[in-house]
Amino acid sequence: MGFALSWLRITAIASVFAAFGIEPAVSAAPVDRAVHQGVASCAGSTCHGRQEATGPRVRQNEVISWSDPASLTGVHSRAWKVLNEPRAQAIGRRLGIANVATSRECISCHGDPAPVRGPKWQQSDGVGCEACHGGSDRWLASHASVNASHADNVAKGMWAVNDPAVRASVCLDCHFGSDKPGQFVFHRIMAAGHPRVAFELDLFTSLQRHHDEDADYAARKGVAGGVKTWAVGQALAVERALSLLPAASARVTGPDYYFYDCRSCHRTFSDDPAAQIVARTNGWRPIPPGQPVWNDEQMIMLAAAARIAAPDVARSFDSQSRAFHTALGGDRAGALKAAAALKATAATLARRFAGTSFDRAQTFALIDAVLIGNAAAYTDYQGGAQAVMAADTLLSALVTAGQVDRGAAMSLRPDLDRAYAQARDANRWDPAAFRATLAQVAGRVRGLK
Ligand code: HEC
Ligand code: HEC
Ligand code: HEC
Ligand code: HEC
Repeated sequence: MGFALSWLRITAIASVFAAFGIEPAVSAAPVDRAVHQGVASCAGSTCHGRQEATGPRVRQNEVISWSDPASLTGVHSRAWKVLNEPRAQAIGRRLGIANVATSRECISCHGDPAPVRGPKWQQSDGVGCEACHGGSDRWLASHASVNASHADNVAKGMWAVNDPAVRASVCLDCHFGSDKPGQFVFHRIMAAGHPRVAFELDLFTSLQRHHDEDADYAARKGVAGGVKTWAVGQALAVERALSLLPAASARVTGPDYYFYDCRSCHRTFSDDPAAQIVARTNGWRPIPPGQPVWNDEQMIMLAAAARIAAPDVARSFDSQSRAFHTALGGDRAGALKAAAALKATAATLARRFAGTSFDRAQTFALIDAVLIGNAAAYTDYQGGAQAVMAADTLLSALVTAGQVDRGAAMSLRPDLDRAYAQARDANRWDPAAFRATLAQVAGRVRGLK
């Protein structure tokens, strides 16, 4: 019932876009009609099931990494199992879902949303290989042959997740949401106990990585690099949210609360005349007191990236994002129009970043833009949390590219860890203290130049 309703809202998307003459989302993940054969089809000991990473080209122990019980590299193999744990079952009870482990509202993200399941496919595998690499029925037999090129594999339906834009679209389906059945964490699911869904493309890639970007990889696929991956990921996250907005805002209360900064509603309040107002005004979003804040964590990052790598677009992005925040306090048509304009600019930025090879100087400038240039934007928790991930990612990218010495970068780890700690608990969010830490991190990063 709940699902059917949400699906109705989502089918409204096409007509809304048609009314504004807008193209469909450029970020939609590849369409997949292939049979998913299941992890067992990949796990042969001469395939991806080796005990050690001894393969001549790819590691070939990807199944072991993916199923590692002790680290985040194995998180996707556990994604369905968590649905059998008390926390997930409690979410189900509150929502009136009889069994979360079979409900499409949960397994579409906590499992492989295979359009067609082959005989070896198992729900208990959770987010299996094909959930990210695409259904394998047309390439399983051929992709390991000596003659198979990446282009051949992609032509047969393997997803090119080496490409940051494709990767972003694949991850965002579950790590933000999509218009496919069951892939959206409506606020009612959050209110039933689901954790907040945070994401940053490059950092999350490294947390679950099971591949090496060595010379062989570079020759086969090219190396996009962490900064580009970060920037494209930010742009496409903004684009994705704005694409889903029309469908998820058909109800009386406007957009689903999932789109907002959680803390803009979940603060404390008091009738005590001595009570301090917690909300901070923020020129990046000219909205009156009492209006919920659109979760602009990625918009803030995108503004910084645009200033550095697409300065000609930065100004219109800034004015469109301000106009969008304001328009959310007005009528539906105005809000959707402002969203459409901003979405188009985010898509433009994604394409621009995809064609940019960020150099050392630009990366330093980007870190400064995020930590210092953006400081005024970090009034709310979610933007702050995204800023720390950005600092971490961009710094790692400098180290990986050999542009900063690893030891020197390690010396600012304590400051970065303090920033992470300050952004860990939304209930203890203190923007002033957080900004001070970011300034310290920025000072140390400048010292690495
Ligand atoms: C749009 C995709 C999506 C949907 C739909 C979804 N989830 Fe999740 N869920 C996630 C992601 C992503 C995380 C990890 C969040 C993070 O840490 O960033 C998660 C985390 C969780 C966790 C915490 C897991 C842990 O290891 O602590 C539980 C429990 C959970 N989800 C249960 C559910 C249940 C029950 C449903 C259905 C009512 C559901 N989820 C629907 C994407 C989804
Ligand atoms: C959460 C998404 C995700 C899942 C699940 C996943 N992968 Fe990957 N995989 C990636 C990404 C991203 C890369 C790096 C980009 C690339 O080269 O494709 C990658 C890289 C690889 C590579 C290296 C490719 C190369 O050209 O060097 C292999 C092999 C691989 N994965 C196999 C597997 C297998 C086997 C499974 C299941 C046990 C699996 N993957 C599960 C996302 C995923
Ligand atoms: C089919 C849905 C799906 C796809 C596609 C997917 N994920 Fe996930 N991912 C999940 C779920 C669900 C969880 C939470 C599982 C849990 O906590 O038990 C998760 C967890 C993670 C975590 C651990 C996060 C944390 O805070 O604990 C990382 C890192 C991650 N995913 C990276 C990626 C990347 C990178 C991609 C794209 C290459 C990707 N995922 C694609 C569903 C997905
Ligand atoms: C526009 C306001 C608004 C926003 C934004 C919002 N919520 Fe809520 N939330 C509510 C309301 C209203 C309730 C119902 C409160 C009640 O029943 O006491 C609620 C309830 C909850 C609850 C249950 C709390 C409890 O103890 O009963 C959780 C958890 C929750 N929201 C999480 C979130 C998360 C996570 C986000 C961000 C993704 C978020 N909310 C964004 C208004 C909001």
